[in-house]
Amino acid sequence: MKYINRITSVEKSLEGMSPAEVYKCRIDETTYYLKTINKVFSQTTYSVKREAAVMRWLTDKLNVPEVLEYGETEDSEYLIMSEIRGRHIDDFAETPLQYISYLVKAIKQLWSIDISQCNFSSRLDMRLQELDYLLQRNLADVDAVNWQDTTNFTKPEELYLWLCNNRPPEELVFSHGDIGANFFVADGEIYFYDLARCGIADKWQDIAFCVRDIRDYYPDANYERIFFEMLGIEPDYPKIDYYILLDEMF
Ligand SMILES: Nc1ncnc2c1ncn2[C@@H]1O[C@H](COP(=O)(O)OP(=O)(O)OP(=O)(O)O)[C@@H](O)[C@H]1O
Ligand SMILES: [Mg+2]
Repeated sequence: MKYINRITSVEKSLEGMSPAEVYKCRIDETTYYLKTINKVFSQTTYSVKREAAVMRWLTDKLNVPEVLEYGETEDSEYLIMSEIRGRHIDDFAETPLQYISYLVKAIKQLWSIDISQCNFSSRLDMRLQELDYLLQRNLADVDAVNWQDTTNFTKPEELYLWLCNNRPPEELVFSHGDIGANFFVADGEIYFYDLARCGIADKWQDIAFCVRDIRDYYPDANYERIFFEMLGIEPDYPKIDYYILLDEMF
């Protein structure tokens, strides 16, 4: 019998902000997570089918949940995965240096993955194509109220055109795509989840999201400097700005 039919209890996780729905559930006395999304998102980096495939590919490369089952109903994709444990990265915010060091550790682990054998692309050509798809179907986050205070756009079409006309050159690495609040730490080790947007992308994609979070938590600009010192690279502000803007309508 399929695992989806063996679930005995479900509890909706309220944390998710994406169009996916996440449920904590029980099968044979064990806790799993069930993630579902409407098939209208199948060709996008929200796809749970894509997430399951990435998760399988990453099994021997990073700490990620194990795929128990991927399946489809008439209008949805679903994934049942093992529970990962540990403390959520945001729980470390009160100790800034530790918080920043875990962001750096997570990024370095992602960069250590050999992309020559990776078939998942999250590069700008596909990200802009999917954004166009989302905009055309009213599935994009076009409400400027949800955007960053620093974003000097109010019209979705103008922001989209600007993103198309100002594409930076890409320095390719393996990228998480939504790294900010999407990992746990247990015994000093990183456990990644929310993997649907993983793939080959510009290294500044993940850096930008870390910078956005560091700025949100700590008004003191020194912490951003410390982040780059730990990372061992100089900040590229135009690229950081670009990837923060790219995320506004997702
Ligand atoms: N395998 C797992 N093990 C433990 N907790 C999980 C697992 N998968 C999801 N969660 C919990 O459910 C929450 C939502 O999951 P996830 O981030 O995948 O959904 P999402 O809809 O893409 O969320 P968001 O848009 O907020 O990033 C996570 O923040 C985490 O607390
Ligand atoms: Mg998430």
